Amino acid sequence: MAQKTPGGSPGRLTRRALSVLTAGVLAAAGVVSLAGTAEATGALGDAAAAKGRYFGAAVAANHLGEAPYASTLNAQFGSVTPENEMKWDALESSRGSFNFSAADRIVDHARGQGMKVRGHTLVWHSQLPGWVSGLAATDLRAAMNNHITQVMTHYKGEIDSWDVVNEAFQDGGSGARRSSPFQDKLGNGFIEEAFRTARAVDPGAKLCYNDYNTDGQNAKSNAVYAMVKDFKQRGVPIDCVGFQSHFNSNSPVPSDYRANLQRFADLGVDVQITELDIEGSGSAQAADYTTVVNACLAVSRCTGITVWGVTDKYSWRSGGTPLLFDGDYNKKPAYGAVLAALGGSDGGGDGGGTGACTATYTQTATWNGGYNGQVTVKAGSAGITTWSVPVTVPSPQKVSALWNGAPAWDAGGTVMTVKPTYNGTLAAGASTSFGFTVTSNGSTAAPVVGACTAS
Ligand code: G3I
Repeated sequence: MAQKTPGGSPGRLTRRALSVLTAGVLAAAGVVSLAGTAEATGALGDAAAAKGRYFGAAVAANHLGEAPYASTLNAQFGSVTPENEMKWDALESSRGSFNFSAADRIVDHARGQGMKVRGHTLVWHSQLPGWVSGLAATDLRAAMNNHITQVMTHYKGEIDSWDVVNEAFQDGGSGARRSSPFQDKLGNGFIEEAFRTARAVDPGAKLCYNDYNTDGQNAKSNAVYAMVKDFKQRGVPIDCVGFQSHFNSNSPVPSDYRANLQRFADLGVDVQITELDIEGSGSAQAADYTTVVNACLAVSRCTGITVWGVTDKYSWRSGGTPLLFDGDYNKKPAYGAVLAALGGSDGGGDGGGTGACTATYTQTATWNGGYNGQVTVKAGSAGITTWSVPVTVPSPQKVSALWNGAPAWDAGGTVMTVKPTYNGTLAAGASTSFGFTVTSNGSTAAPVVGACTAS
């Protein structure tokens, strides 16, 4: 086990540097060939990287030995977040005794694949060992700073962004800080102290505040906003804000999601979507994923997206099937929608949908003030009886006409999910098309056509 006690371990990179050096010497001697240095980021990761962003997944160490889990992770994602393995109870369950073994397995896997790593999380009221809660203020402050120092030293140079403080604000309308051992004994100042300590340990890591129910403008996000603004004004080192983005019918994607990301970005921090999952299925779920990805793409300081797991079967909300791959690692319509929104392609295959149909967009006419678009829907190797295709029209563009299809609009009025009017039944390999007219209202952005879903 990778047990380590405090007292100045140089961190993992020193060991890594030695092994790279050894490999380099062997390569120079013609004994082995070294892989190229380009990052391999996977299909979603590559598509996101082409847009200047990362696309990652939360990962559990104990699933890495499951072949389809690892191959899906490796083939698709460019970043990982340990789902539980870097939490306080996992790393320092008794005071001063650190166990990095499970977290190291994830970091080693990720780095072996050229993936980035998000660190989650240094200071959080949950998954906190009992010994921490029992400490009096002075001791608690020392324990918090020591925990940050030991963990960040161990991973120094290997973590792209750290969630330094997680979920420190209450839900509801109060905008107050959440009661926790840190808040109750150290007061509001514990957050800035954690960030200052973190910066001193690894100046190369981006330091994030991360929370949930802050995805739209509300009392909680306003309180976080005020804190970040204050930190920026006073020079407290904060680089990013994480928006967890756990969505379902009780907590849908807010209509002001993009605007909320933008207002934080305007404070001079990066924003990241850190724990995305959206309960649901089919084209509705796909449309919501499209909305989230497009929101990130529309905010230049939105640097990346992490989905909270690889497969529905291991999700913390598995009953809500909130992820991009089903329990058998099949791509869901949401997968195709994300890939399409990122501008990627699925190798000319099924568009990431059910495998039963594809959707291909062409602009057929353009003029000053608008354009016509056409989507060709093609059945795969079997006949289908109906299909649906989500089309996102970037604001402030408006659809003024649609033919050969019937639209269902999302609440925000930007995604129309098009279904057939008369042309649902297609033989294997046969195609049909629908078309639409868009008033551009000054925007020249192309619409985003998601994955075709058939039945
Ligand atoms: O691994 C043990 C297993 O050995 C034991 O038999 C079993 C019995 O309960 O528990 C297993 O541990 C569970 C662990 O997940 C791994 O599956 C814990 O009980 C369970 O509490 C833990 O839940 C995690 C949760 O955080 C804890 O708060 C979820 O996996 C994880 O997805 C979730 O992630 C959080 C983020 O860190 C912060 N934001 C919200 C998000 C969702 O709750």
